[in-house]
Amino acid sequence: MDFKKYIRDIHDFPKQGIVFKDITTLLSNPEILNKAANELYEFVKTEKIDKVIGLESRGFLFGPLLAAKLNAGFVPIRKPGKLPHDVLSVTYELEYGTDTLELHKDSILPGERVLLHDDVLATGGTAKAALELIRELGGEVVQCNFLIELGFLNGREKLNGAAVASLIQY
Ligand code: PRP
Ligand code: MG
Repeated sequence: MDFKKYIRDIHDFPKQGIVFKDITTLLSNPEILNKAANELYEFVKTEKIDKVIGLESRGFLFGPLLAAKLNAGFVPIRKPGKLPHDVLSVTYELEYGTDTLELHKDSILPGERVLLHDDVLATGGTAKAALELIRELGGEVVQCNFLIELGFLNGREKLNGAAVASLIQY
């Protein structure tokens, strides 16, 4: 299945010089949406998963679909100030400045088996920070699962040997 045909390149978005991979064209096609969700599920279906962790905001698109297929719960990792209960926070470096992610402290129990999902693995900074939060709560990360991997950015190398699966590679 050539999923790339359903992804639209947007030049100079959100900044000059960046080619943005727009997945709204894949999401709006019922057949392709279903196929992509099934293939992401195929990567992990032999594993027992307790929680699927999705990263705000585009990890919320396929994350709950995967959780439903896996009979797992869904847990959001959010940008700062969005989660209402007690949170763990992690701040990580960007090219210019820093970013913060938050996770509810009671959302993963020690020893729970976790699937981390996001739409894109680029530099790996976001997923690496999320892994720190999950491990601090004692979650066991079974797989990091992405719709798109920008392989030329070597994000996978940042993920400290975690199992990585991606459906579409550039
Ligand atoms: C994008 C993408 C990933 C992250 C990947 O999210 O959805 O979450 O960047 O980049 P990295 O591997 O270099 O860390 P973005 O921060 O643009 O926010 P969004 O999901 O809310 O659109
Ligand atoms: Mg994102």
